[in-house]
Amino acid sequence: MDLGLSGKNALVMASSQGLGKAIAKELVKEGANVMIAARREERLKAVQDELSRDGQGKVAFCRADVKNEEDLRALVQETIHQFGSIDILLNNAGGPPAGGFSEVTDQDWQHAFELNLLSYVRMIREVVPSMKENGGGRIINITSSSIKQPIPNLILSNTFRLGIVGMAKTLAEELAPDNILIHTVAPGRIATDRVTHLDQDKADRTGRTLADIREESEQQIPLGRYGQPEEFAKVVTFLASDACTYMTGDAFLIDGGLIRSI
Ligand SMILES: NC(=O)c1ccc[n+]([C@@H]2O[C@H](COP(=O)([O-])OP(=O)(O)OC[C@H]3O[C@@H](n4cnc5c(N)ncnc54)[C@H](OP(=O)(O)O)[C@@H]3O)[C@@H](O)[C@H]2O)c1
Repeated sequence: MDLGLSGKNALVMASSQGLGKAIAKELVKEGANVMIAARREERLKAVQDELSRDGQGKVAFCRADVKNEEDLRALVQETIHQFGSIDILLNNAGGPPAGGFSEVTDQDWQHAFELNLLSYVRMIREVVPSMKENGGGRIINITSSSIKQPIPNLILSNTFRLGIVGMAKTLAEELAPDNILIHTVAPGRIATDRVTHLDQDKADRTGRTLADIREESEQQIPLGRYGQPEEFAKVVTFLASDACTYMTGDAFLIDGGLIRSI
């Protein structure tokens, strides 16, 4: 199948590692030009080198903290300056801190709001004019399986991820006349540093080993294992591509069957 991504311009947020990096890698392999962004410049440089070696498209990087509005504006301007337009926005950020309702503070709530909801709002606002000018585009928001089933001890994720779903569903209708399609993707347990960190947190809280926690977690997944970042990235790449033109506003679980609800 020709995904039609060759020569498309993509901006992938929070892409110095993990899911963002895996998506950037797939897009570059398919011939898209990709701007990668995160806070650690040295990591971004290393990812640029790695992706440029295997891929077809150009790879550029720009340091940006998604909690900083000025950084986001500058990032979008730099991407348009380097590539001419933005066809694909992949919204992503680090995960919010773990914790239950009684533990998290107002500061934690504010942090998670800015990191996991407001940053997505701001990025969409910044890229839509370029997409409209271009005759269309794709916006893909990374959330979590918590949009379907709350995850114990992750009250901040369970709350703010759902805001993204509501916003995206609303925007699907507002942006459809401009041929801008928007999707929400929800990872279950994909093997990245984030998941190791959460498993370690649980191990520390319960006095068990990391291996024990992981085994228990994998047993809850019908496919019996954590997903690989590439498996997640391939689905996202399809949604971002010209092979996917008649879907908008929906949310997709990529979770090995973890969430049982219909
Ligand atoms: N992996 C999973 O199975 C899973 C499941 C559910 C939800 N999620 C969510 O999906 C997102 C990505 O997950 P992941 O597994 O790829 O996490 P990860 O391995 O921890 O990577 C997080 C990325 O976010 C960047 N980042 C963090 N804070 C940032 C900020 N303020 N500004 C810009 N970039 C920032 C980090 O780069 P710098 O440190 O260089 O800035 C890094 O590239 C997270 O929100 C996570 O909670 C993941």
